[in-house]
Amino acid sequence: MGCEYLIQNTKRIIVALDFSSSKEALGLADQLDPSRCRLKIGKELFTRVGPDIIEKLQGKGFEIFLDLKFHDIPNTTAAACAAAAELGVWMVNVHAMGGRRMMEAAREAIDKSSHRPLLIGVTVLTSIGLSDLNEIGISTDPADQVMRLAKLSHDAGMDGLVCSAQETPILRQEFGSDFVLVTPGIRPTGSDVGDQKRTMTPLEAIHSGASFLVIGRPINQAKCPRQVFDSIDYELLNISS
Ligand code: C5P
Repeated sequence: MGCEYLIQNTKRIIVALDFSSSKEALGLADQLDPSRCRLKIGKELFTRVGPDIIEKLQGKGFEIFLDLKFHDIPNTTAAACAAAAELGVWMVNVHAMGGRRMMEAAREAIDKSSHRPLLIGVTVLTSIGLSDLNEIGISTDPADQVMRLAKLSHDAGMDGLVCSAQETPILRQEFGSDFVLVTPGIRPTGSDVGDQKRTMTPLEAIHSGASFLVIGRPINQAKCPRQVFDSIDYELLNISS
Protein backbone atom coordinates (compact mmCIF):
# COMPACT_ATOMS: atom_id res chain seq x y z
CA MET A 1 0.00 0.00 0.00
CA GLY A 2 2.37 2.71 -1.15
CA CYS A 3 5.05 1.62 1.30
CA GLU A 4 7.98 2.11 -1.12
CA TYR A 5 6.84 5.67 -1.61
CA LEU A 6 6.45 6.24 2.11
CA ILE A 7 9.81 4.82 3.10
CA GLN A 8 11.57 7.25 0.76
CA ASN A 9 9.74 10.19 2.35
CA THR A 10 10.85 10.69 5.88
CA LYS A 11 9.49 14.24 6.21
CA ARG A 12 5.88 13.10 6.45
CA ILE A 13 4.63 15.58 9.00
CA ILE A 14 3.22 18.92 7.84
CA VAL A 15 2.66 21.21 10.82
CA ALA A 16 -0.31 23.56 10.31
CA LEU A 17 0.57 27.14 11.26
CA ASP A 18 -3.00 28.04 12.18
CA PHE A 19 -2.14 31.39 13.74
CA SER A 20 -3.21 35.00 13.27
CA SER A 21 0.25 36.58 13.43
CA SER A 22 3.73 36.13 11.98
CA LYS A 23 5.14 36.26 15.50
CA GLU A 24 3.28 33.12 16.58
CA ALA A 25 4.04 31.34 13.29
CA LEU A 26 7.76 32.14 13.46
CA GLY A 27 7.80 31.26 17.16
CA LEU A 28 6.57 27.75 16.44
CA ALA A 29 8.84 27.39 13.41
CA ASP A 30 11.82 28.22 15.64
CA GLN A 31 11.03 25.16 17.73
CA LEU A 32 10.89 22.86 14.70
CA ASP A 33 13.55 21.43 12.41
CA PRO A 34 13.14 21.96 8.63
CA SER A 35 14.93 18.68 7.96
CA ARG A 36 12.18 16.82 9.83
CA CYS A 37 8.91 18.53 8.86
CA ARG A 38 7.17 20.89 6.49
CA LEU A 39 4.80 23.74 7.35
CA LYS A 40 1.29 24.59 6.17
CA ILE A 41 0.09 28.15 5.75
CA GLY A 42 -3.67 28.48 5.48
CA LYS A 43 -6.19 31.18 4.71
CA GLU A 44 -6.12 32.96 8.07
CA LEU A 45 -2.37 33.50 8.37
CA PHE A 46 -1.94 34.28 4.68
CA THR A 47 -4.82 36.76 4.64
CA ARG A 48 -3.56 38.51 7.76
CA VAL A 49 0.15 38.72 7.05
CA GLY A 50 0.60 38.11 3.33
CA PRO A 51 3.28 36.32 1.35
CA ASP A 52 6.22 37.72 3.38
CA ILE A 53 5.76 34.95 5.92
CA ILE A 54 6.48 32.36 3.22
CA GLU A 55 9.79 34.00 2.41
CA LYS A 56 10.73 34.20 6.09
CA LEU A 57 9.97 30.54 6.72
CA GLN A 58 11.75 29.47 3.54
CA GLY A 59 14.72 31.53 4.76
CA LYS A 60 14.77 29.25 7.80
CA GLY A 61 14.87 26.25 5.46
CA PHE A 62 11.22 25.14 5.58
CA GLU A 63 9.20 23.86 2.64
CA ILE A 64 5.70 25.32 2.55
CA PHE A 65 2.29 23.87 1.74
CA LEU A 66 0.20 26.90 0.75
CA ASP A 67 -3.31 25.70 1.66
CA LEU A 68 -5.51 28.31 -0.03
CA LYS A 69 -7.78 25.80 -1.82
CA PHE A 70 -8.21 27.86 -5.00
CA HIS A 71 -11.64 27.58 -6.64
CA ASP A 72 -12.51 30.02 -9.44
CA ILE A 73 -12.81 30.23 -13.20
CA PRO A 74 -9.94 28.41 -14.98
CA ASN A 75 -8.10 31.60 -15.95
CA THR A 76 -8.11 33.04 -12.42
CA THR A 77 -7.19 29.75 -10.77
CA ALA A 78 -4.32 29.26 -13.21
CA ALA A 79 -3.02 32.76 -12.45
CA ALA A 80 -3.25 32.13 -8.70
CA CYS A 81 -1.36 28.84 -9.07
CA ALA A 82 1.33 30.56 -11.14
CA ALA A 83 1.65 33.19 -8.38
CA ALA A 84 1.98 30.45 -5.73
CA ALA A 85 4.64 28.73 -7.83
CA GLU A 86 6.56 32.01 -8.07
CA LEU A 87 6.56 32.18 -4.28
CA GLY A 88 8.52 28.93 -4.37
CA VAL A 89 6.08 26.89 -2.30
CA TRP A 90 6.38 23.09 -2.13
CA MET A 91 2.66 22.29 -2.39
CA VAL A 92 -0.48 24.14 -3.46
CA ASN A 93 -4.11 23.01 -3.72
CA VAL A 94 -7.33 23.61 -5.64
CA HIS A 95 -10.95 22.48 -5.12
CA ALA A 96 -11.82 19.60 -7.45
CA MET A 97 -15.37 21.00 -7.49
CA GLY A 98 -13.94 23.71 -9.77
CA GLY A 99 -14.09 21.05 -12.48
CA ARG A 100 -11.80 19.47 -15.05
CA ARG A 101 -11.07 22.61 -17.06
CA MET A 102 -10.12 24.54 -13.93
CA MET A 103 -7.78 21.79 -12.73
CA GLU A 104 -6.23 21.38 -16.17
CA ALA A 105 -5.62 25.13 -16.35
CA ALA A 106 -3.96 24.97 -12.92
CA ARG A 107 -1.81 22.04 -14.09
CA GLU A 108 -0.75 23.90 -17.22
CA ALA A 109 0.14 27.05 -15.26
CA ILE A 110 2.29 25.10 -12.82
CA ASP A 111 3.99 23.11 -15.57
CA LYS A 112 4.97 26.40 -17.23
CA SER A 113 6.51 27.75 -14.03
CA SER A 114 10.21 27.54 -13.35
CA HIS A 115 9.43 26.23 -9.86
CA ARG A 116 6.83 23.43 -9.83
CA PRO A 117 5.02 22.80 -6.54
CA LEU A 118 2.99 19.65 -6.02
CA LEU A 119 -0.57 20.37 -7.17
CA ILE A 120 -3.17 18.76 -4.94
CA GLY A 121 -6.95 18.46 -5.31
CA VAL A 122 -9.47 18.87 -2.49
CA THR A 123 -12.51 16.60 -2.94
CA VAL A 124 -15.27 16.91 -0.33
CA LEU A 125 -14.35 18.86 2.79
CA THR A 126 -14.37 16.64 5.86
CA SER A 127 -16.87 19.04 7.45
CA ILE A 128 -19.46 18.24 4.74
CA GLY A 129 -22.00 15.48 5.41
CA LEU A 130 -24.83 13.91 3.42
CA SER A 131 -27.40 16.59 4.33
CA ASP A 132 -24.95 19.38 3.41
CA LEU A 133 -24.39 17.78 -0.01
CA ASN A 134 -28.14 17.35 -0.52
CA GLU A 135 -28.74 20.98 0.36
CA ILE A 136 -26.38 22.15 -2.38
CA GLY A 137 -28.08 19.89 -4.91
CA ILE A 138 -25.74 16.88 -4.83
CA SER A 139 -27.69 13.71 -4.07
CA THR A 140 -24.63 11.43 -4.04
CA ASP A 141 -23.32 9.87 -0.85
CA PRO A 142 -20.18 11.75 0.40
CA ALA A 143 -17.94 8.68 -0.10
CA ASP A 144 -19.10 8.31 -3.72
CA GLN A 145 -18.67 12.03 -4.31
CA VAL A 146 -15.10 11.82 -2.93
CA MET A 147 -14.32 8.98 -5.38
CA ARG A 148 -15.92 10.83 -8.30
CA LEU A 149 -13.88 13.98 -7.60
CA ALA A 150 -10.76 11.92 -6.87
CA LYS A 151 -10.97 10.26 -10.31
CA LEU A 152 -11.58 13.62 -11.95
CA SER A 153 -8.56 15.11 -10.11
CA HIS A 154 -6.37 12.19 -11.17
CA ASP A 155 -7.53 12.49 -14.81
CA ALA A 156 -6.96 16.25 -14.78
CA GLY A 157 -3.33 15.72 -13.75
CA MET A 158 -3.36 16.50 -10.05
CA ASP A 159 -0.36 15.09 -8.18
CA GLY A 160 -2.59 13.92 -5.35
CA LEU A 161 -5.40 14.73 -2.97
CA VAL A 162 -6.19 16.06 0.45
CA CYS A 163 -8.34 13.38 2.05
CA SER A 164 -9.44 12.03 5.39
CA ALA A 165 -7.46 9.11 6.75
CA GLN A 166 -10.63 6.99 6.44
CA GLU A 167 -10.56 7.52 2.68
CA THR A 168 -6.86 6.73 2.16
CA PRO A 169 -7.03 2.91 1.83
CA ILE A 170 -9.51 2.97 -1.04
CA LEU A 171 -7.82 5.93 -2.75
CA ARG A 172 -4.40 4.30 -2.40
CA GLN A 173 -5.80 1.11 -3.91
CA GLU A 174 -7.42 2.99 -6.79
CA PHE A 175 -4.54 5.31 -7.73
CA GLY A 176 -1.39 3.40 -6.71
CA SER A 177 1.71 4.36 -4.80
CA ASP A 178 2.74 7.48 -6.75
CA PHE A 179 -0.38 9.48 -5.98
CA VAL A 180 0.17 11.84 -3.04
CA LEU A 181 -2.40 11.53 -0.23
CA VAL A 182 -2.32 14.37 2.29
CA THR A 183 -4.29 13.62 5.44
CA PRO A 184 -5.54 16.03 8.10
CA GLY A 185 -7.61 15.02 11.15
CA ILE A 186 -4.65 13.35 12.85
CA ARG A 187 -4.65 12.93 16.61
CA PRO A 188 -1.83 11.29 18.56
CA THR A 189 -3.19 8.81 21.13
CA GLY A 190 -4.61 10.65 24.12
CA SER A 191 -4.79 14.12 22.52
CA ASP A 192 -7.90 16.29 22.22
CA VAL A 193 -10.06 15.51 19.18
CA GLY A 194 -11.44 19.09 19.02
CA ASP A 195 -13.88 19.64 16.13
CA GLN A 196 -12.43 16.88 13.93
CA LYS A 197 -14.99 14.10 13.63
CA ARG A 198 -13.17 11.06 12.27
CA THR A 199 -9.59 11.04 13.47
CA MET A 200 -6.70 8.58 13.26
CA THR A 201 -3.38 8.37 15.06
CA PRO A 202 -0.29 9.23 12.97
CA LEU A 203 0.72 5.57 12.81
CA GLU A 204 -2.76 4.41 11.75
CA ALA A 205 -2.88 7.07 9.04
CA ILE A 206 0.49 6.02 7.59
CA HIS A 207 -0.54 2.36 7.68
CA SER A 208 -3.77 3.26 5.90
CA GLY A 209 -1.78 4.74 3.00
CA ALA A 210 -1.28 8.45 3.79
CA SER A 211 1.81 10.07 2.25
CA PHE A 212 1.81 13.17 4.44
CA LEU A 213 0.06 14.02 7.69
CA VAL A 214 -1.25 17.51 8.40
CA ILE A 215 -1.10 18.08 12.15
CA GLY A 216 -2.40 21.30 13.67
CA ARG A 217 -3.63 21.72 17.24
CA PRO A 218 -1.88 18.72 18.81
CA ILE A 219 1.40 20.53 17.97
CA ASN A 220 0.53 24.23 17.52
CA GLN A 221 -1.46 24.42 20.77
CA ALA A 222 0.89 22.22 22.81
CA LYS A 223 2.74 23.61 25.84
CA CYS A 224 5.87 22.07 24.41
CA PRO A 225 5.36 21.68 20.63
CA ARG A 226 8.85 20.29 20.09
CA GLN A 227 8.23 17.48 22.53
CA VAL A 228 4.92 16.50 20.89
CA PHE A 229 6.51 16.69 17.45
CA ASP A 230 9.46 14.53 18.55
CA SER A 231 7.22 11.83 19.98
CA ILE A 232 5.13 11.61 16.78
CA ASP A 233 8.19 11.71 14.54
CA TYR A 234 9.91 9.02 16.58
CA GLU A 235 6.87 6.76 16.31
CA LEU A 236 6.86 7.20 12.53
CA LEU A 237 10.62 6.76 12.08
CA ASN A 238 10.32 3.36 13.72
CA ILE A 239 7.93 2.04 11.10
CA SER A 240 10.11 2.87 8.11
CA SER A 241 13.35 1.38 9.42
O1 C5P B 1 -5.81 21.35 14.38
P1 C5P B 1 -6.00 20.25 13.37
O2 C5P B 1 -4.96 19.16 13.46
O3 C5P B 1 -7.41 19.71 13.35
O4 C5P B 1 -5.74 21.00 11.99
C1 C5P B 1 -5.96 20.42 10.78
C2 C5P B 1 -5.52 21.35 9.68
O5 C5P B 1 -5.87 20.74 8.46
C3 C5P B 1 -6.16 22.72 9.71
O6 C5P B 1 -5.21 23.66 9.21
C4 C5P B 1 -7.33 22.58 8.75
O7 C5P B 1 -7.61 23.78 8.08
C5 C5P B 1 -6.79 21.56 7.76
N1 C5P B 1 -7.80 20.74 7.10
C6 C5P B 1 -8.71 19.94 7.78
N2 C5P B 1 -9.63 19.19 7.10
C7 C5P B 1 -9.67 19.23 5.80
C8 C5P B 1 -8.75 20.00 5.10
C9 C5P B 1 -7.82 20.75 5.80
O8 C5P B 1 -8.71 19.86 8.99
N3 C5P B 1 -10.54 18.49 5.15
